[in-house]
Amino acid sequence: KFKGLALTPPMGWNSWNKFACNVNEQLIRETADAMISSGMKAAGYTYINIDDCWHGQRDSLGFIHPDPERFPSGMKALAEYVHAKGLKFGIYSDAGSQTCGGRPGSRGYEFQDAQTYASWGVDYLKYDWCNTEGLKAEGAYMTMAAALQRAGRPIVLSICEWGTDKPWEWGPEVGQLWRTTGDIYNCFDCIEDHGTWQSFGVMQILDKQEGLRQYAGPGQWNDPDMMEVGNGMAVNEDRAHFTMWSMLAAPLIAGNDLRNMSKETTAILTNKEVIAVNQDKLGIQGFKLSSKDGLETWLKPLDDGNWAVVFLNRGDGPRKVEFDWKKNPITDELSKAELNASQTTYKIRNVWTKKAAGTTARSFKAEIPKYDVVMLVLSK
Ligand code: DGJ
Repeated sequence: KFKGLALTPPMGWNSWNKFACNVNEQLIRETADAMISSGMKAAGYTYINIDDCWHGQRDSLGFIHPDPERFPSGMKALAEYVHAKGLKFGIYSDAGSQTCGGRPGSRGYEFQDAQTYASWGVDYLKYDWCNTEGLKAEGAYMTMAAALQRAGRPIVLSICEWGTDKPWEWGPEVGQLWRTTGDIYNCFDCIEDHGTWQSFGVMQILDKQEGLRQYAGPGQWNDPDMMEVGNGMAVNEDRAHFTMWSMLAAPLIAGNDLRNMSKETTAILTNKEVIAVNQDKLGIQGFKLSSKDGLETWLKPLDDGNWAVVFLNRGDGPRKVEFDWKKNPITDELSKAELNASQTTYKIRNVWTKKAAGTTARSFKAEIPKYDVVMLVLSK
């Protein structure tokens, strides 16, 4: 795989969560424009990624072409448009014979497709796992990784197997990120049954990240799926969702309509202090310290000995927090970072209210509404 890509979790936008198969070049151009006018680019978002259903047919020589009605100007022109805005361009394919949406997959065409993507100026490939009967995931993804390598353009490889084949075990050698679960959908605490498959609410996806943090680091990220911020959940739920994805060092791929965002959605997606926790260069995925009566405490060690701390209320009503920093020093077994408030007095900053919140000399007290968070950054 290409080294030096995605040294912090990739940030961008993807069409699927909001638009599913309704993609076309105008949507992509308008999204690139909105990325800039909304302040998303300034906040660090880079990738504009088209998901499933951009495809037309393969020609007689096997080359894939975009749907000529939806993408009449072609993918190279669209990539140039995106690049001219200082953004990067992503596309989607599938390791099987067909994509999940029934478009041509890359099976048997991996090297040819990788060359085509490189010639279009693609920077990011999400590679899905439908219609892969008889394939082994690790091998199939290695084939595409080798094809991208051969094509010679640095392209982020986003592995979209759904956790069945433990992609965290082999993904770090093959791509820059790997999905850990089935699909997310815009509910805070639900499971949706589709018969042969399920999609998961934010809390269900969060719980499925347990035990995976050791696999994450610069250039290799657990991917708990693209975000549903701005797609219909309540503002507090969106805030909690964005907070937890930041704590998980998850890829921050927005999945909403950037052209029509509410003030609240924009404020969540562009909160630079929250994003800084996600993008912290140590690249350590956060962990759950404790859980009691629906109230969870999460920690993420940051560069320079700083810490991010989140109190997440997933209970059935408001919850009171009282956290005595000095009670126990906390050591992260993975990074060996230590939060020892008896030795060091940290300054506390509340990154959602954007206010100083005292120091660790005193216990932290707050009441948190249902399905909301308090997010703090402790600095020396
Ligand atoms: C399944 C993936 O998990 C989704 O994120 C999306 O890419 C769809 N396939 C597209 O068909």
